[in-house]
Amino acid sequence: MNDIRNTIDLLEAKSRVELEQITLPYAHTALAPVMSTATVDYHYGKLYKAYVDKYNKGEGDPAFNEAGAYLHSIWFSQFRSPGTRQPKGQILALIERNHKNFVDFKEKFKEEAMKLQGSNWIYLSKSGQIKTIHNHAKRTDIALLVDMWEHAFNLDYHADKEKYLNNIWRIMDWDAINRRL
Ligand SMILES: [Fe+2]
Repeated sequence: MNDIRNTIDLLEAKSRVELEQITLPYAHTALAPVMSTATVDYHYGKLYKAYVDKYNKGEGDPAFNEAGAYLHSIWFSQFRSPGTRQPKGQILALIERNHKNFVDFKEKFKEEAMKLQGSNWIYLSKSGQIKTIHNHAKRTDIALLVDMWEHAFNLDYHADKEKYLNNIWRIMDWDAINRRL
């Protein structure tokens, strides 16, 4: 019986597709001061990498690690160097259809994000709703995503989540977000 179990485990491990970290489309220094180099080094270089490595080595809970890696691949692919860019194209239409305008949307998004306790993500869905994820979970309807785990803002904003949420729009790459829609 143990032999059969071991064989099944081995086959499952072999059939699992190895995860790969996305390559950042910007330098680790590019998002400062909204997101410091130290935060990118730590968040991308250590935490996100750990989800990928643990999943590939079969350590810990595979579903948790896979979802963690998945969400961080979305998170890190939606930024560019700071500026005062506005949403455009399809993402702007989605925001305006569901939340009147970008200013109102940002307020509502922040309000929902500030209510969260513990480790969470918050996102705008492809159908225009503001949704949350506790810990990690794979979702196929993410248009734009904000990491509300403490490690995402702690180094740069300490406990000031509101400032983090106000600033995050300055590094959003709306072209990258439009490519998801
Ligand atoms: Fe994170």
